[in-house]
Amino acid sequence: MTTALAPTAPPRWQLLYSPRAWRRWFAAKSARIRDAHSERAYDQLAPFVPAGARVVDVGAWDGRLGRLLRDRRGCDVTLVDVVDHNVTDLPFQVYDGRNLPLADADRDRVIVMYVLHHAADDLAVLREARRVCRADGRVLVAEDRVDTVGEKVRTIGFHAWLATFTFMGWTRFRKEHAWRARFAAAGLRVEEVVPLGAVGALWPRNVLYVLAPA
Ligand SMILES: C[S@@+](CC[C@H](N)C(=O)[O-])C[C@H]1O[C@@H](n2cnc3c(N)ncnc32)[C@H](O)[C@@H]1O
Repeated sequence: MTTALAPTAPPRWQLLYSPRAWRRWFAAKSARIRDAHSERAYDQLAPFVPAGARVVDVGAWDGRLGRLLRDRRGCDVTLVDVVDHNVTDLPFQVYDGRNLPLADADRDRVIVMYVLHHAADDLAVLREARRVCRADGRVLVAEDRVDTVGEKVRTIGFHAWLATFTFMGWTRFRKEHAWRARFAAAGLRVEEVVPLGAVGALWPRNVLYVLAPA
C-alpha cells in the first residue's frame, strides 16, 4: 500500500507577499482537486467492480483510481497508458495506444475513464478492450457528454482549460447515439447508461457506459 503526504496550504496572509506561498497554495489546491477526482471516480465505479476482480485501467494517468480499487476492493489491477505519469506501485506499462499488452479474455473489468475522446483511434481502444475482456466481464467507459448545446459548451470549455495546464488536447467528443454505434462496431453491447452528473455547474456532464461483450 502506498501513501503520500499531501502538500499543505500556507496561511492566507503569506499569499500577500510570498510567491513561494502561492506555489504551495497552488500545489495544495491541485492535490485536493486530484484526490477528489480519484475518490469521485472510485465511488462511481465501485458498484460495477466486484471485490477481487482482475482489472485493467486503460489510460490510467497517475494510477490513483487503480490504487483505490486495489486497496479498498482487493482488486488485481494493471495500469496502461500512452504516457507515464504513474505515481503508484501497481504494475504499469506504456503502450502504443492501439494494442493492449494483455492476453485475450484476461480481465474481469476493463476501465476506460475519460480516455476515448483523447485517443488517436478510439475504435482500436474499444476493440482491444473487447478482446481482453472475459466473456462474462464488463468494459466500463466514462465520457463527457456533448448532446446538448450547454453540455457541449461546458465540455469544450473545460478541455480548453485542461489543455492549458496539462497540454492534453482532445480528438473527438461524441453524442450518445454515436458512442453506441462505436461500441457496437467494437463488438460491445450497452448494458446500462449511468448519468454521473458533474463536479460543478461549469464542469462537463459525465456519463458511464456499462458494456458487455456482444
Ligand atoms: C483525461 S485523462 C483521464 C485519466 C484517467 N483515466 C482519469 O479518469 O483520471 C486521459 C488519459 O488518456 C490517455 N490516453 C490518450 N490516448 C490513449 C490511448 N490510445 N490509449 C490509452 N490511453 C490513452 C492519456 O494519456 C491520459 O492519461
